[in-house]
Amino acid sequence: MYINFWYPAGLATEIAGTPVRRRMLAQDFVLWRDQAGRVQCLANTCIHRGASLADGKVLGDDVQCPYHGWRFAGDGRCTAIPSLGRGARIPGRARVDAYPVAEKYGLVFVFLGDLPEVERCPIMDIAEYRGEAPDPGWRATIQHFTWDIDYQRSVENGLDGAHNEFVHPTHGYSGDRDDIRIAVEDYEIVDTEWDSGHFSSRRAPPLADAKMREASGRTVDAVIRGGTGHHGAAMVWTLIHPTDRISIHQYLFETPVDEGRTSLYLVNLRNFLLDPAEDPRMMGRNEVVALQDRDVLQAVRPVLTPPGRTKEFFTPADITIASYRDKLKAWEDRGWRIDMAEVNRTRGRTAFAIPSPARRQQGGWVLDPVPLIPARVAAAAAATPGV
Ligand code: FES
Ligand SMILES: [Fe+2]
Repeated sequence: MYINFWYPAGLATEIAGTPVRRRMLAQDFVLWRDQAGRVQCLANTCIHRGASLADGKVLGDDVQCPYHGWRFAGDGRCTAIPSLGRGARIPGRARVDAYPVAEKYGLVFVFLGDLPEVERCPIMDIAEYRGEAPDPGWRATIQHFTWDIDYQRSVENGLDGAHNEFVHPTHGYSGDRDDIRIAVEDYEIVDTEWDSGHFSSRRAPPLADAKMREASGRTVDAVIRGGTGHHGAAMVWTLIHPTDRISIHQYLFETPVDEGRTSLYLVNLRNFLLDPAEDPRMMGRNEVVALQDRDVLQAVRPVLTPPGRTKEFFTPADITIASYRDKLKAWEDRGWRIDMAEVNRTRGRTAFAIPSPARRQQGGWVLDPVPLIPARVAAAAAATPGV
């Protein structure tokens, strides 16, 4: 699991004037909406005796701890310590980590890390959105799932064109044909700072759903084109064009909850059957497909992706999965990967916080930052005397 990315913490409609607890990257957070309607997010562990802030209340713009009533503002500063008496000076060190929040596409995103704004991987762009709503001509739906699968396995499933034929009966020939070779030589590769992906063509039967088939205007087999890729550590885009007439663009925003448990938000855009009455049909289809993936992923072993490439067998069709792993390795080398072995070793004895941007400006934090695999560049420099 990696710090320094934006992760979805919930639907915008779920965060209101009462504290909500969310677990992300194996840590707990509290979210609430202040009086101006802005969503705030803090590390959930109170720095006094470690109570869960999410079990407290929202008072004005602040959250109040349920144990001894300390209050914390959205920027993490403690604003009241009742046992010191009214108007008492609050020590500067009395603060918790506060995280940048953004609302987009009907979701609340939290930046879990300390990277300065200009260096952050942006939230994945949905080209069909301009502002708060999709462009006319597109209809959006959002679905949320929380499953016992690992987010990296899930992202890799999204990048994996070879599984569709076997896992999703509606996507191909149900594994019945022996001419489904993936023509990797024809891949159009996407490789940018934050994305790896590919566009490719494959032969497909007409859509199984009668109404969608009618909207697509195709009743015979044809070569269809599509693309898929990841953005950052845990976002996936999939652009499907069953015919020139219809497009299905899917944007999956994942949050690792714990190792082996993942929260997934699927934003689906379609440019056909735009009537909201068609939403259940589209969402039902998406859910069936998503559950087919889930069932396979719940049974893969090991649960977490093994390190390196020697404990699995790679083929040319796995090229985008390999690129994704290369990017993850580069982010690990920057010092962004959580050292879960250390987190697990100290479980029950140490409360950590994901380092927030303010840690780069101020010292004296009460909670230790979550342990990270040391940055490779930093480790190399530290090992060289005089550097
Ligand atoms: S534990 Fe939060 S106020 Fe004491
Ligand atoms: Fe799939």
